[in-house]
Amino acid sequence: MDISFLLNGETRTVSVTDPTQSVLDWLRAEGLRGTKEGCNEGDCGACTVMLSDAQGSRAVNACILMLPHIAGKALRTVEGIAAPDGTLHPVQQAMVDHHGSQCGFCTPGFVVSMATAHLNGRRDHDDLLAGNLCRCTGYAPIIRAAEAAAEIPVPDWISADAGLIPALTEAPDPVAPAYLPDSADDLAAWYLTHPEATLIAGGTDVGLWVTKQLRTLPQVAFLSHCKDLTAISEDSEGFRIGAGVTIAALREAMTGPHPALAELLRRFASEQVRQAATIGGNIANGSPIGDAPPALIAMGARLTLRRGDARRDIALEDFFLEYGKQDRAPGEFVEAVWLPKSAPDLACYKLSKRFDQDISAVCGCFNIPRKGSKIETARVAFGGMAGTPKRASAFEAALNGQPFSEATFTAALPALAQDFTPLSDMRASAAYRLEAAQNMALRYLREASGEAVSVLEVTP
Ligand SMILES: Cc1cc2nc3c(=O)[nH]c(=O)nc-3n(C[C@H](O)[C@H](O)[C@H](O)COP(=O)(O)OP(=O)(O)OC[C@H]3O[C@@H](n4cnc5c(N)ncnc54)[C@H](O)[C@@H]3O)c2cc1C
Ligand code: FES
Ligand code: FES
Repeated sequence: MDISFLLNGETRTVSVTDPTQSVLDWLRAEGLRGTKEGCNEGDCGACTVMLSDAQGSRAVNACILMLPHIAGKALRTVEGIAAPDGTLHPVQQAMVDHHGSQCGFCTPGFVVSMATAHLNGRRDHDDLLAGNLCRCTGYAPIIRAAEAAAEIPVPDWISADAGLIPALTEAPDPVAPAYLPDSADDLAAWYLTHPEATLIAGGTDVGLWVTKQLRTLPQVAFLSHCKDLTAISEDSEGFRIGAGVTIAALREAMTGPHPALAELLRRFASEQVRQAATIGGNIANGSPIGDAPPALIAMGARLTLRRGDARRDIALEDFFLEYGKQDRAPGEFVEAVWLPKSAPDLACYKLSKRFDQDISAVCGCFNIPRKGSKIETARVAFGGMAGTPKRASAFEAALNGQPFSEATFTAALPALAQDFTPLSDMRASAAYRLEAAQNMALRYLREASGEAVSVLEVTP
């Protein structure tokens, strides 16, 4: 398959023989070795590149980005951040002025993340740089550099990419080993006849199958160019979120209507991963420690599955059958997830060893509406407590119809041990997980009564 894209402002057409080859490997083989390989699993940000299309520009990790992902888009590497005449970009100059680099292995990734944030006018530097690891310099000079550069206008050579992109889009080839459909209809028709193929959305899970497990994927379809899968629509009842909506886009869209969900998604991986990872992938992978499913289950989310032209609609919790097994037929894919318009009683608590860029040991999501002083119908779901994301049915039953009080919650806590038999693993022991889940329930009670419970709010 041939793909075309802009590379540092110049059109490139590449014949792709291995569709799962990472953009990082390709760049380095081309001699563009400023983009570094650190972890090769999306964790360190040394490989950060800027990817732009009609939706805008974002920083992503090249090590788990595959070549077809960049078809018809504009890619900027660290070599393309300075002007063609060598004039430094404002973030590069600020890194020099503020002593933002020592060994420098991390620096190219930082510079690309910072230039992307600069282009987008973002100032939340702590969040944006959480996916770039630096072991030598320390973050203070780097953040000072980002703050200083924010005051300087975006250079012309960086903003020029946007005008050049549309000409590069090409028609998909249904007989190639990698299919790149541009609509859910095309994907549905193709997947029906190729049910053994691996679907790749953001590739933030599948990328690691290739880089870490060294798996070969004989036939793949990329969902990244199905524009209709990236739509969020709204009616009087709720939101329909296309499976291809990224975690970053979902976080932005939900900040107003569902702030608790948006805040949880801020803790999801890093900016680079959130900009690639999709909500469909986070559900379809069936992971017991995925962050979105427990929140969505607690909200009463529904899933639209599509096979050819047939669609079915199920409660999200019914999709997860057991560890590694989901209710999805061959040739069927996740098309959308539906969320209610509001869930004002939702609170989500992610417990991980680090605040940023870490997988949950336990993720507890509580949606406990009250009528007067009585609990109506509680919806509580956990990740990290079973082989799948799972509702706490016995705990919910012990709450329903009872006063919203410490006595009710304390009496209900043992029911969590009926609901879950968690595992011990490198993230947490079974006993710790159970105790943490029970403490999260008490945290919900305290938060509902106005106490500060977030690590960002509690002061000594
Ligand atoms: C560094 C790092 C940090 C991470 N941190 C977190 C975290 O904090 N929280 C968290 O929950 N996850 C985390 N993840 C995991 C991952 O980012 C998420 O699971 C992500 O949502 C997967 O989405 P994707 O689009 O990248 O999926 P992909 O990797 O493209 O696909 C994942 C799986 O879903 C299937 N699939 C994808 N889309 C569909 C569809 N529409 N229909 C049917 N099947 C489909 C694929 O075939 C594959 O089996 C992290 C990953 C990395 C690399
Ligand atoms: S090499 Fe570490 S994120 Fe890509
Ligand atoms: S300067 Fe050495 S890792 Fe950042």
